[in-house]
Amino acid sequence: MEICSHISRIKVTFVVYVLIVNIIIIVENVRSEASPMLENISSSCLTKQSVLGGEHMVCVNATPSYFQYSGLKLNRSHWLTCVRCNLNVIKESTFNFPKNNVSYLNLTDNNILTIEPYSFGKFHILKFLSLKRNPIETIDAKAFNGLRRLLHLDLSFNRFKIVRSNTFAELESLDILNLNWNNITYIHNDAFVGLMNLKYLYLNYNKIKTLLADSFKHLTNLKILYLENNRIREIHPVAFNNLRNLNYLYLNNNSISYLVQYNFKQLSSLVDLQLRSNSLSEIQTSSFNGLSGLKFLYLGQNNLTRIQPYGLIGLNSLLILDLIGNNFKQFSLDNFKNMNSLTTLWLEKNKLRSITVNEDSDPLPALKILDMIDNSLRSFNYKLLSEKLPNIQDILIGKNRWNCDFLLKMYNYYSVRNVSVCLDAKCNANETDQFIKTNCSNVSFHRDSKGRQHHPGEKTGIIEDDEEDAEQNDFVLDSEVVNNGGSNNFNISNLSIGVLLLLLRTTTTTTTNG
Ligand SMILES: *[C@@H]1O[C@H](CO)[C@@H](O)[C@H](O)[C@H]1NC(C)=O
Ligand SMILES: *[C@@H]1O[C@H](CO)[C@@H](O)[C@H](O)[C@H]1NC(C)=O
Ligand SMILES: *[C@@H]1O[C@H](CO)[C@@H](O)[C@H](O)[C@H]1NC(C)=O
Ligand SMILES: *[C@@H]1O[C@H](CO)[C@@H](O)[C@H](O)[C@H]1NC(C)=O
Ligand SMILES: *[C@@H]1O[C@H](CO)[C@@H](O)[C@H](O)[C@H]1NC(C)=O
Ligand SMILES: *[C@@H]1O[C@H](CO)[C@@H](O)[C@H](O)[C@H]1NC(C)=O
Ligand SMILES: *[C@@H]1O[C@H](CO)[C@@H](O)[C@H](O)[C@H]1NC(C)=O
Ligand SMILES: *[C@@H]1O[C@H](CO)[C@@H](O)[C@H](O)[C@H]1NC(C)=O
Ligand SMILES: *[C@@H]1O[C@H](CO)[C@@H](O)[C@H](O)[C@H]1NC(C)=O
Ligand SMILES: *[C@@H]1O[C@H](CO)[C@@H](O)[C@H](O)[C@H]1NC(C)=O
Ligand SMILES: *[C@@H]1O[C@H](CO)[C@@H](O)[C@H](O)[C@H]1NC(C)=O
Ligand SMILES: *[C@@H]1O[C@H](CO)[C@@H](O)[C@H](O)[C@H]1NC(C)=O
Repeated sequence: MEICSHISRIKVTFVVYVLIVNIIIIVENVRSEASPMLENISSSCLTKQSVLGGEHMVCVNATPSYFQYSGLKLNRSHWLTCVRCNLNVIKESTFNFPKNNVSYLNLTDNNILTIEPYSFGKFHILKFLSLKRNPIETIDAKAFNGLRRLLHLDLSFNRFKIVRSNTFAELESLDILNLNWNNITYIHNDAFVGLMNLKYLYLNYNKIKTLLADSFKHLTNLKILYLENNRIREIHPVAFNNLRNLNYLYLNNNSISYLVQYNFKQLSSLVDLQLRSNSLSEIQTSSFNGLSGLKFLYLGQNNLTRIQPYGLIGLNSLLILDLIGNNFKQFSLDNFKNMNSLTTLWLEKNKLRSITVNEDSDPLPALKILDMIDNSLRSFNYKLLSEKLPNIQDILIGKNRWNCDFLLKMYNYYSVRNVSVCLDAKCNANETDQFIKTNCSNVSFHRDSKGRQHHPGEKTGIIEDDEEDAEQNDFVLDSEVVNNGGSNNFNISNLSIGVLLLLLRTTTTTTTNG
């Protein structure tokens, strides 16, 4: 009876019931609620205060017939949640509450198998409906009829295999539709008919293999489409027809192995396209043509080895290109013709042995960050690169096979020009200093074994090392070599890194001035 004194409004009969049946659960409920006022509405349902201040009715272990015959009143409740109810089949007569004020209906985890036509027809002002984590396999075409004000429908963690035509036909206000974690293999091209206001569609973690023509043709206001973690291999050339307002398309973690020309052409408002963790091995000509407003393109974790001519054509607004974790052995900045907005290029975790740029190609005026971490580079033509990337700020170089001779000269060259050469994305210049000091200290520093002839690759920009520059800097190094006893080796550990860099910096400055 101690509990009674704390919760004065609980009727004696109810307390007895609670003490016998379920004391622990109810006491926990009382503790967890901000306002511990419980009312004995019925043996199964209690009203609490919702976070919005209205009445939240919570029913535990109820059945369909309970809702049908108990005389439950829902005229004051704004929210209704069923916990561990056994609802199996919901019909038009199940929730027969002609007068109700329910805007939120949470039927998560209630063992629902079937939803018959007009099941929710009396919830005239319903805005939120969750049917998450039920074993529903099919839904009748008229199941959601009457829910004209519904904004959010959660059908995740069910067992749908197909999405039939007209399933959501009357949900004209729907904003969010969540179909994640089902078993969907097929979407009828009239499945989404009527969803003229849908903005977010979640189809992650299903088993979709092919995106058929016109799959989303009714979703003219869709902003975000999630199709991650499916088994998509093929995208029909007009799969995305009519999605003219789509801004974000997420196709990560599928099995897409090729893209046809103009695959995304209909997506004229697309800003962000994510194709990470797929099986692309090359980028075909015109794959992204039409995406004139695209700002972010994520192609990481594929198996890309090359970009066909004009493979990136049309991406005139692109800001960021992610090519991390692919299979490129060489890469040419000439792929980026006319991409005058590109600020960031991620080439991390490839197998790059060379990074090139043609002497005749136009500069990339916006590029600020070039990430080459974790490749097999020994050197590149840093002077030409600098010319073609006039606004470069950060060059990320960690985890490569840099030649120490090259590394010192390149580092110095960029330092003078206020370009940060960093080991990782944190871009701490001191770490690069330390790295060079440690790792190049016991490396013998000798002239390029190829001599001073221009090797044939240089004209096309395929550069192993930068001879011209080597010549200029070698002036100082040569005199040191002479002082060291005429050997062709130069022991860098005899100089502090600061002195060394100062030395190189002075030389370059002199050269530049002269
Ligand atoms: C409280 O619930 C019991 C059934 O458990 C019912 O008999 C009783 O009439 C209810 N009291 C009120 C005030 O609703
Ligand atoms: C609303 O329900 C209460 C009981 O919870 C009842 O007394 C009242 O008459 C109902 N009002 C209407 C308009 O149905
Ligand atoms: C239903 O909710 C509206 C506002 O949401 C309120 O004005 C009205 O009084 C409520 N009706 C009942 C019977 O509680
Ligand atoms: C719905 O109810 C379940 C308990 O059955 C709860 O865990 C979940 O957080 C609720 N969902 C929302 C969105 O309120
Ligand atoms: C999906 O289907 C497979 C068999 O095709 C089955 O084993 C699995 O349990 C199903 N998953 C769900 C959530 O229904
Ligand atoms: C991709 O799919 C694999 C296997 O299904 C899974 O283990 C992994 O977590 C997924 N990755 C992402 C980013 O979703
Ligand atoms: C990646 O492509 C290469 C050929 O370019 C191929 O040998 C390899 O099997 C591919 N790897 C995967 C995971 O598809
Ligand atoms: C170098 O860059 C920093 C920050 O980006 C800037 O504050 C500084 O003025 C620049 N110095 C020169 C010489 O351009
Ligand atoms: C880098 O080193 C300089 C001088 O040694 C020091 O003043 C500065 O704080 C260091 N910067 C960082 C980020 O460690
Ligand atoms: C020297 O190189 C190794 C391997 O690349 C690296 O792990 C280590 O951190 C480097 N030393 C310094 C001081 O950066
Ligand atoms: C430099 O010295 C360290 C340890 O003294 C050694 O592990 C490393 O292999 C040496 N590097 C070269 C290039 O000799
Ligand atoms: C470089 O100089 C250090 C100390 O001055 C010495 O221990 C080392 O053996 C020298 N290395 C070479 C390659 O001459």
